Amino acid sequence: MAKQRSRYVCRECGHESLAWAGQCPGCSEWNTLEEVVVTATTASAAGRSTRRRAAPPRSIPLREVESPVEQRLGTGIGELDRVLGGGLVPGSLVLLGGSPGIGKSTITAMALGNLAAAGRSVLYVTGEESAAQVRMRAERLGESALDVPALAETDLAGVVAAIESERPDACVVDSVQTLHSAELSSAPGSVAQVREAANALMEVGKRNGTALVLVGHVTKEGAVAGPRVLEHLVDCVLLFEGERERSYRTLRALKNRFGATSELGVFEMREAGLVEVEDPSARFVGEATAASGSVVLCAMEGTRPLLVEVQALVAPTDVVPPRRVANGIDRNRLAMILAVLSRHAGVGVGNADVFVNVAGGVRVDEPGADLAIALAIASAHRGEPLSDREGRPLACFGEVGLTGELRYVAHADRRVAEALKFGLSPVLAPAVREAPPGLEPAGTLRAALGVARKRFGAALREAA
Ligand code: TYD
Ligand code: MG
Repeated sequence: MAKQRSRYVCRECGHESLAWAGQCPGCSEWNTLEEVVVTATTASAAGRSTRRRAAPPRSIPLREVESPVEQRLGTGIGELDRVLGGGLVPGSLVLLGGSPGIGKSTITAMALGNLAAAGRSVLYVTGEESAAQVRMRAERLGESALDVPALAETDLAGVVAAIESERPDACVVDSVQTLHSAELSSAPGSVAQVREAANALMEVGKRNGTALVLVGHVTKEGAVAGPRVLEHLVDCVLLFEGERERSYRTLRALKNRFGATSELGVFEMREAGLVEVEDPSARFVGEATAASGSVVLCAMEGTRPLLVEVQALVAPTDVVPPRRVANGIDRNRLAMILAVLSRHAGVGVGNADVFVNVAGGVRVDEPGADLAIALAIASAHRGEPLSDREGRPLACFGEVGLTGELRYVAHADRRVAEALKFGLSPVLAPAVREAPPGLEPAGTLRAALGVARKRFGAALREAA
């Protein structure tokens, strides 16, 4: 007889405990523990069977393990395929997270439409919207999106049965938080339900070779909705980001068992769906203002260089402590850069609000962004634009160390080459051995500020 026991799982960090507590012992968040019922048979049965086994299981040298020829499913959306590492892997489970209205349903509907047009069998399970609403979206996306079979269902057993009988090559579940298993008493979207749904879907997907994409919401902190538990269960976690009011969207992989995690896809939301931005650098450089507080950063996103505009605004304030607002960069990084600027480069913004923004709603999470942030702030603080005689903005990259030194970051040659493509030269950067032509090396942040003013700032204008 199966014995039922309760466990308590944290919605935020996935910590499990035997007793309920107001505060999670794992992550110290309040009121995040949720009850999950565990059936005792599975664990003890597994324990017994290991004891009863006659011969121990044999390991195999990896060389002799058969590796299946991986046939990836191209979604017909180049940027999505690249982030996935070359398309969807049959039988894999992908979690696509993003805030409401960002375009998750749109991109998945487009991908299924393309797959259907390529002769693949697909299925779109919608729990959030009615089939009629999904059809209305598909009408905007074109003919092939209308060929996708849709199933409006929130009952987990029903969805599993549908996948079992239709055995599609690819299936989207939009969203995993709406699924509900009748065997659990908790509400849809709770840890127990979401975990149960993901487990059941993974199982049926693997058995039928169906590539499953689970759409999930993200919490305000940006984690894929509550259950971190999902993140280690799935093969791939994709995050769709951007500002809803702006049209740019970025897609990145937080985890990918079948490819790199640093790839970034850039899209633009248009009237008829998402359009890939094939040369995002050109867009962002073209839109760069080259006004004071604006600098171009040569960033690396996965395997490709990307030029983005970093903007800063420094405004005197009476508010204590002054505001530090970071969009697209890490807040702590901004605090560190402000400290280094004041301590080692003579740029003190003590009683001023500081806002830093990466234009286009892109996030850059690499230390190579430090120098651009520092120069943008210095330029905003002095009200001095940093641009060359033709009005082209200064381009730079490099990590800033705590003692004010500039530190090496990888792929200097590719970053410089990307900037040169748009006529941005010289590129301010930490010194590297065998510096590529077009790179202007600086050893410290203070030296970089000096060069910036001489080649792009006040000194250049005075000389003219
Ligand atoms: P949607 O995919 O429904 O977002 P999510 O599933 O992430 O909540 O799309 C959100 C927005 O995109 C919606 O406000 C309408 C807009 N949109 C377009 O601008 N063009 C289009 O072709 C489509 C389908 C949607
Ligand atoms: Mg949606």
